[in-house]
Amino acid sequence: MTAATLAATRVCVFDAYGTLFDVAAAARRWKDLLGERTLVLAELWRRKQLEYTWLRSLMGRYEDFWHVTGAALDHALAALAIEDPGLRARLMASYLELDAYADAHSVLTRLKEAGRPTAILSNGSPSMLAAAVSAARLGRLLDAVLSVDRVAMYKPHPSVYTLACERFACKPAEICFVSANGWDVAGAACFGFQAVHIDRTGQPAEGLPGQPAATIASLDELPRLLSL
Ligand code: LAC
Repeated sequence: MTAATLAATRVCVFDAYGTLFDVAAAARRWKDLLGERTLVLAELWRRKQLEYTWLRSLMGRYEDFWHVTGAALDHALAALAIEDPGLRARLMASYLELDAYADAHSVLTRLKEAGRPTAILSNGSPSMLAAAVSAARLGRLLDAVLSVDRVAMYKPHPSVYTLACERFACKPAEICFVSANGWDVAGAACFGFQAVHIDRTGQPAEGLPGQPAATIASLDELPRLLSL
């Protein structure tokens, strides 16, 4: 049943941060300066970044993801008592050229060869996404890069997932949506996408409505799921 519904999808849409791009890479790049605080900074920065997206959506106070990412970094640096404007600037700049996971390039290449349309659908602002895609040389492998900025609302609001249906003129069930963020998988599944959870770190299931159609440990498992 699951295999058949996934194989019937027409378009493959990917979350960006955590799924194709390694968000911890920004802090790791400056580990000589951050030392043993590298991991805790990376985790707090990411957690606050996501919290701020959810809270801003609830408050009806959208600002783009670059602004949110900077505000989250400011909080994380203050929480760790790091006062270094130069380091802040370096960390933000690194967010524009995050490492792509090794399986991101290989799966997008395989989907391209199979003629399957592909896209990113992300909280990222258009300029952040353009920079990350260009730095990782993924541009020619993607048919679209869709930002929540068009609807001024963050995931997992349904209006965000609608952007992919509009772009590809298809129904939700015709989209295979892949994310490493369990809450994003839940939102996408509730919307009606065939959602695939790429679980790189063995996370327990989220206590949210919306179940993944499948869970994989590497993006390289995706073509088989799609019967390609
Ligand atoms: C994104 C966040 C959820 O790329 O990682 O949309």
